[in-house]
Amino acid sequence: MADKYGPIFTIRVGGRKNLIVSNSDMARECFTVNDKVFAARPKMTAFEILGYNYAIFTFTTYGACWRNLRKMAILEVLSHHKIEMNSHVVLSEVKTAMKDSYNNSNKKSMVVTEMDKWFGEISLNVLFRLVVGKRFTGYSEENERIRKAFRSFVDFAASFMIGDAIPWLRWLDLDGGEKAMKKTAKELDGYVQTWLDEHRRSRNHGAERDYMDALISNIDQGFDTYDVDTLIKASFLTLILAGTDTPVVTSTWALSLLLNNRRALSKVVNELDSKIGTKRTVVETDLKNLIYLQAVVKETLRLYPPLVLGVPHEATEDCVVGGYYIPAGTQLWTNIWKIQRDSTLYLDPLEFRPERFLTTHKDIDLKSQHFELIPFGAGRRMCPGKSFGLQMVQLTLANVLHGFDIVTVDGKPVDMAESVGLSNAKANPLKVILTPRLSAEAYA
Ligand code: HEM
Repeated sequence: MADKYGPIFTIRVGGRKNLIVSNSDMARECFTVNDKVFAARPKMTAFEILGYNYAIFTFTTYGACWRNLRKMAILEVLSHHKIEMNSHVVLSEVKTAMKDSYNNSNKKSMVVTEMDKWFGEISLNVLFRLVVGKRFTGYSEENERIRKAFRSFVDFAASFMIGDAIPWLRWLDLDGGEKAMKKTAKELDGYVQTWLDEHRRSRNHGAERDYMDALISNIDQGFDTYDVDTLIKASFLTLILAGTDTPVVTSTWALSLLLNNRRALSKVVNELDSKIGTKRTVVETDLKNLIYLQAVVKETLRLYPPLVLGVPHEATEDCVVGGYYIPAGTQLWTNIWKIQRDSTLYLDPLEFRPERFLTTHKDIDLKSQHFELIPFGAGRRMCPGKSFGLQMVQLTLANVLHGFDIVTVDGKPVDMAESVGLSNAKANPLKVILTPRLSAEAYA
């Protein structure tokens, strides 16, 4: 549609007007001069039912409540200081996954792995350990139920509901989505309430304090229409919802791109061997020296941003974008996927060329100041988990590429089909063979 109608157009879905911006100039106009106007989020059934009536701050409208909850998440989990402090958690989860694969490979000399699941396990355990001091070890029926409920939560958050487009049809719940969402919301609330009660009984104030402990200390009274428990539970779910899938999707695409571009893969592995050697695994302080790996991650986020259309914004006042009048109430979608594949900004935009970020585009960073590369969105609602997400992706990728020789199971190129939805996951699982390549002590 962007090719047909250009870099700015509107479509009506039921009663709602949607603005889609598909080039960097239009995006810049939305998130600089009009940033405050577009700082709100639209009302959506999923955000209401699963998000404790918009208390999950990804969905909270712009204002004091959103500001306070976001500030707390940054202070307690997402600031540079906290990310550095907690890097051992990411590292220990990566090492556990590597050790498991190494031990399994000892029995067969190589191990077949679904990498989406491998990355997913690391991400889920890191988030849960930081946020609620819990990790999922091995198989248990309860663990599987919890995982399933969280999976549905993420999937529902990105689903299309007829009642959102045509509000007067909502009460009929024609697709049954609302009923299913309520069931998931109730189940999740049960788990989160249990963890909250447990934390209240055995409060941790010391170095081991997790996000739930911090929330209990910081939130001692309700705000807006929300009571204390709702604010705490919603803040917990905000990080799980926003932070679990995005790093997994990015790591999976990065590995897929590298497997289809063996020259780039060799360059990454050579860089890792020359900077780290073969006797130890990669640690946080190595990342700044892995220049080519950083370029690979940037190029992956350019070609396969996990949120292709960002998260929707809503105009709270009338405004003008690209010379067009945009009435209050219009929903804004940023076509990140299209912006980052623009041939006027990138030579051969569909090609995977990490080198461009070391040469022609070396000044373009991920701080959302350059609108030609905005995988984390831009403006006041841009992703607060950017640095944490990048740390997870870089540490995980660096270690798996350094620790194992990797080939596809069938020896064929990776199928790059994308799934349909807000979150741009691969359509099919990435199955590979991992063969350890470091000395045994590195996996200990
Ligand atoms: C590669 C990893 C990630 C990518 C590409 C990504 C991308 C994005 C994007 C595009 C948005 C929407 C921004 C907008 O509305 O304009 C967003 C919002 C958000 N992200 Fe991320 N994200 C990533 C990782 C994370 C992580 C690890 C966390 C936290 C643990 C996180 C927390 C959030 C939150 C809370 C919001 C909502 C912000 C608000 O509404 O104020 N993200 N992210």
